[in-house]
Amino acid sequence: MSDSSNSQPPGPHPADLPPWLCGNFAPIAMECDAPHLPVVGALPHGLNGTLYRNGPNPLFMPLDPARHHWFLGDGMLHAFTLADGRASYRNRWVRTAKWQAEHAAGGPLASGFGGQRDGAAPFADEGLANTNIVWHTGRLLALEEGHLPVEIDPATLATRGVQSLSGRLEGPFTAHPKIDPVTGEMIFFGAGADGPLTATMTFGTIGADGLVKRLERFDTPYCSFVHDFIVTRPRRGAHPAAQRQHAARHGRRAPLRVGTGAWRPCRDHPARAGRVVTALGACR
Ligand SMILES: [Fe+2]
Repeated sequence: MSDSSNSQPPGPHPADLPPWLCGNFAPIAMECDAPHLPVVGALPHGLNGTLYRNGPNPLFMPLDPARHHWFLGDGMLHAFTLADGRASYRNRWVRTAKWQAEHAAGGPLASGFGGQRDGAAPFADEGLANTNIVWHTGRLLALEEGHLPVEIDPATLATRGVQSLSGRLEGPFTAHPKIDPVTGEMIFFGAGADGPLTATMTFGTIGADGLVKRLERFDTPYCSFVHDFIVTRPRRGAHPAAQRQHAARHGRRAPLRVGTGAWRPCRDHPARAGRVVTALGACR
C-alpha cells in the first residue's frame, strides 16, 4: 500500500451523503498494489495486457454534501494486469493540482464546480481527470470534459502531468475522443473553448505519430452542453447531446452511454501495439 491512504477528517453524517458517496458507491480511501491476485482456474495462454479504468473517487468527503455532484470526485485509476497466467491490480489517484492541494492541506478545499473554499490557498484549475482513460500513440491519457488530458505512466499509474502536446492543445478537451481504426488518428473536440458557457468550440486530430495534425476553432449558434460525438466515413459527426434533446421533445428515451476503459495490449504482440479497445458499455 502506498503512503497516500486517506485519513479522513470528520465529515458529514452518513445519512446526509448522496447515493454516489455511500454503500457500494462509496469512495475507495486508499491506494494499493496487489501483485498476486488469486486466480480460480487458469487464465488463457496469451491473454496478456492491462485494462485501465477511471472514475470519480473523492480524496475527501465534501464539506457540504448538498452542493456536491458525482462529477466532482477526484479521478482514480485502476489497472488490472494479466501476464503469464498471473493477475495483478493497482490503483492511484490522478495527482491534479486540486488533489495535491487537498492532500497537503489534509482536507477538502473545493466548494463546487470550479469553486474553492473561502480562505483556501488557490490552486491551478487543471480539472479532475476523472471521466475516461484512453491509450493513443504510446500515451495513456486521463480525460475529463473541461480540461486538457493528463498523461499517466502506464506501468506505475504515476501522474506525468498535463499534456498539451508542446502547447498545441489548449482549453477543454473532450473525455470521449474517437480513434480512427484505419489511420490511427485521434479525433477530438473541445466545448466552451473561450470559457464556461461560451459558444466557441475546437475540433482537431492527433496523428498516429502523436502530433497535432489539425486544430480548428469556430463559433456555434448558441452555447450548449456538447458531450459526445460520432464519426463516420466520410467524416461527418453528430452530437448525441442534440439527439437527446430531440428525443426528449418527442417523449422518447435516448441512447445512454455508460462505462469507459482502455486496454493496453502486451508488448508480446507488437502488431497490435497502440490499438485501444474502449468499453462502450450498454446502450438502452
Ligand atoms: Fe462524459
